[in-house]
Amino acid sequence: QIVYLNGAFLPLEDARVPVLDRGFIFGDGVYEVIPVYSRHPFRLAEHLQRLQHSLDGIRLANPHSDVEWRELIREMIARNEGEDQYLYLHITRGVAKRDHAFPKDTPPTVFMMSSPLLPAAQALREHGVAAITAPDNRWLRCDIKAISLLPNVLLRQLAVDAGAAETVMLRDGFLSEGAASNIFVVKDGVLLAPPKDHLMLPGITYDVVLELAAAHGIPSRVGPVAEDTLRSADEIWLTSSTREVQAITRLDGSAVGAGEPGPLFQKMDRFYQDYKA
Ligand code: PDD
Repeated sequence: QIVYLNGAFLPLEDARVPVLDRGFIFGDGVYEVIPVYSRHPFRLAEHLQRLQHSLDGIRLANPHSDVEWRELIREMIARNEGEDQYLYLHITRGVAKRDHAFPKDTPPTVFMMSSPLLPAAQALREHGVAAITAPDNRWLRCDIKAISLLPNVLLRQLAVDAGAAETVMLRDGFLSEGAASNIFVVKDGVLLAPPKDHLMLPGITYDVVLELAAAHGIPSRVGPVAEDTLRSADEIWLTSSTREVQAITRLDGSAVGAGEPGPLFQKMDRFYQDYKA
């Protein structure tokens, strides 16, 4: 496996970062996850735009122009195996003596790796996944794709401990998102999605799903989704770059709707598979 680190492509085993890297010390950095289908990065412009938003959010200069990113990404894909991959991009505020305030004139650390992107198992498509709910105890800049993911890690582990695939977060009685995904609700034939504000990550897959809904005449409404709406949903979906669209068929141990992937999920899964191809 060949990775990219600070200007060089090298084997993963040889990639080393000093312990004083602010990513290691403070979690001071941002990241992106970009799916690659048939060796083409999916929605690259949107991912690079969100990366810029995250960098702006932590006041870190973008180390590369979009043209440079595109070239690095092209080479990364070419140097790794697999028609379908997902790329992980990671930028930290660099290596400096430990001090909370920003260091001066320190180059950022830029890291990129590729992993295999495997299609969802058939059982998952047929039966969906289980999820639990938990209070959203994160900060108020969830729109930044920050590498400091401790709450998300703890929340996801709660799901794993409960034999579930994701934790759906609620803040002040409203749905925010999953530990590493966005969440949609279907109620009475309408697709409901929380708004892209500071309380959730603006998902690239989320945008694709809303676009596909509009293109295929599925009514949708973007706005706050109350806890009761979530709990009485006909369908619940999760979306992410690595999991695409998945049906959540059990929530906190109770069946969602009929307890199997619903009719709108079946449609959206098909639209998504066709769209990405
Ligand atoms: N996570 N919300 C959170 C908190 C996420 O971490 C992610 C994705 C999403 C979905 O965004 P997108 O559709 O752009 O992937 C929403 C990635 C996959 C990860 O951390 O591995």
